[in-house]
Amino acid sequence: MNRVYIKTYGCQMNERDSEAVAAMLRGKGYSMVENESEADVILLNTCSVRDQAEQKAIGKAGHVTARKRKNPNLIVGIMGCMAQNRGDELIDRLPDLDLVVGTQKFHRVPEHLDAMIATMQGQGPRPESIVDLEEEAGSQNTIRSHVEDKRQVSAFVSIMQGCNMKCSYCIVPKTRGEERGRPMESILEEVRELAAKGTREVTLLGQIVNQYGVREFPFVEKKSPFVQLLEQVNEIDGIERIRFTSPHPVGFRKDLIDCYARLPKLCEYIHFPMQSGSNRILKAMRRPYTIEKFRSIIEQLREVRPDIYISTDIIVGFPGETEEDFELTRKHFEEIGFDMAYLFKYSVRPGTTAEPLGDPVATEVKEERNQKLLDILGKRSLTRNESLVGHIEEVLLEGPAKRGEGMFMGRTRGHRKVIVPASERLVGELVPVRINSATASTLMGELMLEGVEPAPTAYANSI
Ligand code: SAH
Ligand code: SF4
Ligand code: F3S
Repeated sequence: MNRVYIKTYGCQMNERDSEAVAAMLRGKGYSMVENESEADVILLNTCSVRDQAEQKAIGKAGHVTARKRKNPNLIVGIMGCMAQNRGDELIDRLPDLDLVVGTQKFHRVPEHLDAMIATMQGQGPRPESIVDLEEEAGSQNTIRSHVEDKRQVSAFVSIMQGCNMKCSYCIVPKTRGEERGRPMESILEEVRELAAKGTREVTLLGQIVNQYGVREFPFVEKKSPFVQLLEQVNEIDGIERIRFTSPHPVGFRKDLIDCYARLPKLCEYIHFPMQSGSNRILKAMRRPYTIEKFRSIIEQLREVRPDIYISTDIIVGFPGETEEDFELTRKHFEEIGFDMAYLFKYSVRPGTTAEPLGDPVATEVKEERNQKLLDILGKRSLTRNESLVGHIEEVLLEGPAKRGEGMFMGRTRGHRKVIVPASERLVGELVPVRINSATASTLMGELMLEGVEPAPTAYANSI
């Protein structure tokens, strides 16, 4: 009764939460399995950010609960954002569900499973479904100390929970609650522990990660708590690379920009969501910045790190987005020259302030706008990758690649994916790789373990 399979939907924060649940369960004697057909317990960690994400998880939950007809002892649970968003309604819809656990209750999963299994083994009646969705004061402090036993070359570290912004399209404040920062010392302890187990790269996670701790901790010498945290992570031996996601233009000041010039471990890569290039739409989205302000931050970043790689999030088809609005998005998207982007078609979310606006932009129009941005992205990404051919890049080898024996996958400091013939021994190492060929998404290379040539330092913005 103790083999657990967890399937994760949604963002990195969910991935980190699933890892934490897995680590807690292992600590209580459960084992994690890779294949759901071997599992006694199936947990779906869900996302609500777009309707499609919810429908996918509901479809999956339907399939999985249907299996209980053959295997009545199977335990099925839904956790995470959709559990929080839909709550009891999920049990009404899927009466065979055993567990519905919200985003502030991940740490309670082991005790709920223990209780359920104890009732089942006592041959009692089938236990009632458990629904645990309450907010919990201090739940940000439960994130700590769920470090995996196995080595993670690159690890996510959640530094805060929740979000206090009110972007009109977004359900996250509803599913994740109020913004709460973890104590800085506890985050640093977790990073030190990871480093001791062989982690080389950490990605600090938060919904507005640069707002970390602004209410809990003071500014010191005009440096925000987030910048103070970056400085301290930079000091930790063994950690070679630092990334974070996602920052917001609000509160993105000189102290953070300067970090790109002075903290050597902070990678020259940033995920910086733009959402739209039209000030009118940004206002309707309740994103409190203009496109000019957004671009000026990027300019300042490029001044201190000319070779920085930038990715973004864009929503096309927000209610009221006209051709002119989209044209502005297209123009700024092209001029800025993003190296990567997540492009989303607007999806109405219940309970958001944009909900009453409906979904007036036709699906075909959204598709078309999405495609235009994809074309721009494909070209830019290819040009950027091709500029690396013939150069040597520092690559952190993460593990075997999907494409066959002897091939390994790693990333450059700019977060470009590299495939290289290597050996298991080098996993977790920073190795110099000569780039031999490139597609828009992947670089192919060979190890250059002797005679390291300098990597290109500046990338002239070609657009
Ligand atoms: N906190 C992050 C975003 C987290 S959600 C930030 O503010 O940058 C990830 C992305 O999903 C958002 O950046 C947005 O582009 C997209 N998204 C959120 N709600 C959406 C919706 N209702 N429809 C389409 N895309 C959405
Ligand atoms: Fe959603 Fe906006 Fe918060 Fe990001 S900042 S999670 S988009 S409300
Ligand atoms: Fe989805 Fe929740 Fe993340 S809604 S994007 S899993 S915070």
